[in-house]
Amino acid sequence: MLKIDFKNMFSAAVGDEGGLTTTDIAAIDKSTAAAHEKLQEWRRTQDAIFYDIVSDTRILEGIPEAAKEISSRFDEFVVLGIGGSALGLRCASAALLPPYWNLRSKEQRGGKPRLFVCDNIDPETFAGLLDLVDIKRTCFAVISKSGTTTETASQFLVVLERLKRTVGEKWREHLVIITDPERGELRPMVRAEKLRSFAIPPKLGGRFSVLSAVGLLPAACAGMDIEGLVAGARSMASRCAAASLETNPAYQIGAYHHYLDTRKRKAISVMIPYSDALMLASDWYSQLWAESLGKQGHGQTPVKALGSTDQHSQVQLYMEGPKDKIFTFVGVESFRIDDKATRVSGADKAFSYIEGKDLGTILRAEQHATTEALARAGRPSLTVTFPTIDAHHLGEFFMLYETATAYAGALYGINPFDQPGVEMGKKLTKEILTKG
Ligand code: PA5
Repeated sequence: MLKIDFKNMFSAAVGDEGGLTTTDIAAIDKSTAAAHEKLQEWRRTQDAIFYDIVSDTRILEGIPEAAKEISSRFDEFVVLGIGGSALGLRCASAALLPPYWNLRSKEQRGGKPRLFVCDNIDPETFAGLLDLVDIKRTCFAVISKSGTTTETASQFLVVLERLKRTVGEKWREHLVIITDPERGELRPMVRAEKLRSFAIPPKLGGRFSVLSAVGLLPAACAGMDIEGLVAGARSMASRCAAASLETNPAYQIGAYHHYLDTRKRKAISVMIPYSDALMLASDWYSQLWAESLGKQGHGQTPVKALGSTDQHSQVQLYMEGPKDKIFTFVGVESFRIDDKATRVSGADKAFSYIEGKDLGTILRAEQHATTEALARAGRPSLTVTFPTIDAHHLGEFFMLYETATAYAGALYGINPFDQPGVEMGKKLTKEILTKG
């Protein structure tokens, strides 16, 4: 089970200016019942369907079978999708696949395909990818909830032409489409061409969709443990079901961030994983927090950092710059390697303090030292600890933060599930391209 430590959020640890006092907690407690009720309402209207899909027994329907077939036929699996259609999978692959997955031989990958997630439409990167992969051995997953996103449509049309030119009539076999069951431009094509497809539940928005076919099908194709992801999310959903703040870690995250932002001017939320494998968890979180809560003049700016790297880049600012930040440390108790492999030996006197220590121990010491230093400087933080990095704990993490985000949305009094600002950009892009 993920460990979540709020000690450094409170005034006892960080002082009254940055931390939550008993008066603050009493004020927070007054808004919790209404926010909980709002979340229940969003569940009834299916706006918060992210919470309930994980307990639906059909969540994995068709996915293991399709993944088995795809991974036995193809050497490359390329995802075309952006925003919420890409970031959760990116995070899961970094966390759950062995490092340097795409550089490993097919044998080292257990026969599974390499995995590429193409979100941006930088022409050099995309052309580079198409040069790299053998189209005849590539399956493309086109992932778009709306089925209308310009970036994904552009990539898809480039790929489609390339596929038809290279494999002729067999082009259909190289595609899997993940989109809304009814709406958008992709669904009619699925029907007309009888393409392999998966449906995204109608009210499930991109940034809440990693635990649907959006994240699960590609994850399964690369051999990730999707049952573990779902089981972890399920157990976190029940851990976050209580109405009361003290027993609900997602509500605590949402409420403390909201309160410190609106009442103590902590307008920035920094997430610092102390693990390369979890580095993209902060990318995923940033999109979720920013796109869900940044509305009507509200919201808190998420910042991504990495420990210990950013101790040599950002931490000076975090320690002595403006007191406008809350920190989330994401740590790992036990790394997935034999500690002996990275044990320091032969240190001279100057480095005797690391003699016999492995890199995981040193990294954890760096994390604890930075947490403590920030607390002493009056800067609030919380710590989420993965006992080890695996599918179950990552599933827990996804559900924890999706629930925290929805709850914070209720406290801000905004709708966390839409993205009118993003839609406007999409519309204007179409207008510019139509004119020129
Ligand atoms: O979280 C969101 O809703 C957005 O980031 C979308 O995922 C992103 O804009 C891509 O949209 P779509 O999946 O409809 O192509």
